[in-house]
Amino acid sequence: MKEILKVNELVKIYGDNKNKYRALDKIELTVYEGEFIGVMGPSGSGKSTLLNMVSTIDKATEGEIVIDGENITLLKGDKLSDFRREKLGFIFQDFNLLDTLTVKENIALPLSLSKMNYKEINEKVKKITKKLGIYGLLNKYPYEISGGQKQRVAASRALINKPSLILADEPTGALDSKSSMELLETLENCNSKENATIMMVTHDALAASYCKRVIFIKDGRLYKEVYKKDSRKTFLKEILDTTSLLGGEGNEII
Ligand SMILES: Nc1ncnc2c1ncn2[C@@H]1O[C@H](COP(=O)(O)OP(=O)(O)O)[C@@H](O)[C@H]1O
Ligand SMILES: [Mg+2]
Repeated sequence: MKEILKVNELVKIYGDNKNKYRALDKIELTVYEGEFIGVMGPSGSGKSTLLNMVSTIDKATEGEIVIDGENITLLKGDKLSDFRREKLGFIFQDFNLLDTLTVKENIALPLSLSKMNYKEINEKVKKITKKLGIYGLLNKYPYEISGGQKQRVAASRALINKPSLILADEPTGALDSKSSMELLETLENCNSKENATIMMVTHDALAASYCKRVIFIKDGRLYKEVYKKDSRKTFLKEILDTTSLLGGEGNEII
């Protein structure tokens, strides 16, 4: 199996000399092509920090991150932004759509930047939006569509150039339960039908149960990982059991 992501002894320390905070402490992780991996853990455990390092949004303090054979900890400037655009796809909680661009322009953005010709871009936009059920919305602006539709626009933008790795941080965080389920089914579908490799941070056990594997982080360290064996229902139970063992997130009262 091809390694898409390899994280070696990753350390992230925030703050200066007087006030240091170790948000990640020697994280080791390998993600293979075609995996749909969830990252869980109590609030403040380091989930977003890990995703931000892998996203190249923030720099690691120590350790190494290799994505599709490239050591991204060594990339800088244009090389880093080219890598990000070509190899990674992003889905955020707050959608991150540009309000002044139409749905179509938002989705085409990564391809426009890569100087692909107009006809080819149109074909790709058509294909992905038909699949995600938003083809009829192409000429609308973000303020004219619902939260669930916005997130499908963001997912289309993330998926359009078939990135090596799709990164999602709480993608269902701002959605109602029906839209959440639709998005998760879309991601599950892209994973199973097109072999997309997805890494999703979530604090929601139900969302995590759509993954094939879930890793749990506690205090910046890898605590446990669980694999989906048969049904989503038994996987959900296992995730909930681990979450309550971990503490935090809904268990503060106990
Ligand atoms: N930019 C930052 N500067 C200082 N501390 C930070 C910064 N970002 C996150 N932290 C701290 O690092 C820890 C992990 O944060 P984060 O990765 O956002 O957690 P999670 O996503 O699991 O809720 C928290 O204690 C948080 O306060
Ligand atoms: Mg977070």
